[in-house]
Amino acid sequence: MFKSLFSRLVGTYFIIILITIIVLSVLLSTFFEDFIFTRRAEELKREAIDLNPYIEMYAMGLLDEWNLYNYFKVADRYKNTTIWIVDEMGYIWISYSSSDEEMDKWKEQKLTAEEFMQVIKGHTIVKEGKFGERFPVPVLTVGTPFKVNDKIRGAIFLHSPVQEIKGTIRETYKNIWLASLISGILSIILLFFTSKHISKPLIEMNQISREFAKGNFKRRVDIHTKDEIGQLAVNFNAMADSLENLENMRRSFVANVSHELRSPLTSIRGYIQGVLDGTIPPAQSNKYLSIALDETQRLNKLINELLDLSQIESGQFPLNITKFDINELIRRVLISQEERITDKDIDVIITFQSLSCYVQGDRDRIQQVLYNLIDNAIKFNPKGGKLIIETWRHDDRIFIKTEDRGPGISKEEIVRIWERFYQVDKSRSPKTGGTGLGLSIVKKIIEEHGQEIWVNSEIGEGTAFIFSLSAVAEG
Ligand SMILES: Nc1ncnc2c1ncn2[C@@H]1O[C@H](COP(=O)(O)OP(=O)(O)OP(=O)(O)O)[C@@H](O)[C@H]1O
Ligand SMILES: [Mg+2]
Repeated sequence: MFKSLFSRLVGTYFIIILITIIVLSVLLSTFFEDFIFTRRAEELKREAIDLNPYIEMYAMGLLDEWNLYNYFKVADRYKNTTIWIVDEMGYIWISYSSSDEEMDKWKEQKLTAEEFMQVIKGHTIVKEGKFGERFPVPVLTVGTPFKVNDKIRGAIFLHSPVQEIKGTIRETYKNIWLASLISGILSIILLFFTSKHISKPLIEMNQISREFAKGNFKRRVDIHTKDEIGQLAVNFNAMADSLENLENMRRSFVANVSHELRSPLTSIRGYIQGVLDGTIPPAQSNKYLSIALDETQRLNKLINELLDLSQIESGQFPLNITKFDINELIRRVLISQEERITDKDIDVIITFQSLSCYVQGDRDRIQQVLYNLIDNAIKFNPKGGKLIIETWRHDDRIFIKTEDRGPGISKEEIVRIWERFYQVDKSRSPKTGGTGLGLSIVKKIIEEHGQEIWVNSEIGEGTAFIFSLSAVAEG
């Protein structure tokens, strides 16, 4: 029972509504029963008071019996009330009934002291029952004293059949239960739709997550609300987006790696085979073998970079944080690239805010960052270009900038340069020998340090990379 959320919601709400309606209806019904009985008793009391003057006149001989009965009839208003006028001794002196057969039925009968004493003492009594088995059906009895010249001379008893009163109550009951039924049906309809509305996105998420498990990340949940379930659906969709991205990245990564490995391997194989089978004349063999060697170096670089990336991403090799002079590190990297810089006739302009500048970080990893950025700057600079390097301190951070006068990167592509294997227009750009992994490694290292990296680039003007590191006091 109640296996699904929908049935549980409907079931629970249904039981709550049912209990509420039953309790309310029972309470209302009892309340109405009491209310109607009290009202009828009040009416009877008022009738008795109204009749008193006529009884008084009759007792004084100013009114005949026929006229008195007429007043009784008017007071009764077809409610089948039986009226007794009882004398001081407890004998029924006048008996009136709406039906002629019963008119004189109780005349001359004597009431018991118990029935009579309270009233004759001046009290008004209200009773429910057969009035000492005198009536075949239950009646509501009201007894009040009647006075002649302000002295109690007897009692008036009015008996109204309970059956008549119950008739009014039954009408009220019918209305109460009808109202309950209608509100119950309306609540159930509302409840059905609300529960459907609540459970629908959850059912959908359930189905979609099953598809995720099978590797299909295409479907998303339809979101219509802003409540907690709506937020869950938004987060679910966001999770689906990142899963899909991750899956796409994984696929393209595998494709890229295989492609990057295959092309140098194919050319190495071609050159060696050419040398071996004589397609390449022996005089040219050295030239082709050295191209093949270059390709093996490229493969080596690619594999090293892939290993670096996976090491950083796996988090298996935590940063080895030390304190070092970043200016010194920049000098070292520049010295290692001296040959390429002179070959390209690049003008190196260095601006350090102070001679030494101490930072906190993993020295080897930061060296890798500097190497990649300076390598790019040299690679993309034209012959006779400029390589500008700056370091400065702002608050508790050191900023390092590398700038070149290369072709620049367009706005559309600048967001993608951090992706693995991404190279701006690979087919048209001069063969740089890169693999497109450098900047993704740079970004990972900077993020691992909890720092930031920015890029500024203008087409035809050049490109500048700026990254931050946390500063430490010298010494
Ligand atoms: N200084 C720069 N000027 C112009 N374009 C740049 C510059 N630096 C990076 N890029 C663009 O961003 C792409 C990605 O750079 P990244 O360093 O990741 O790869 P790469 O230099 O091509 O290869 P690798 O660094 O693996 O040798 C480059 O291919 C290039 O298109
Ligand atoms: Mg690079």
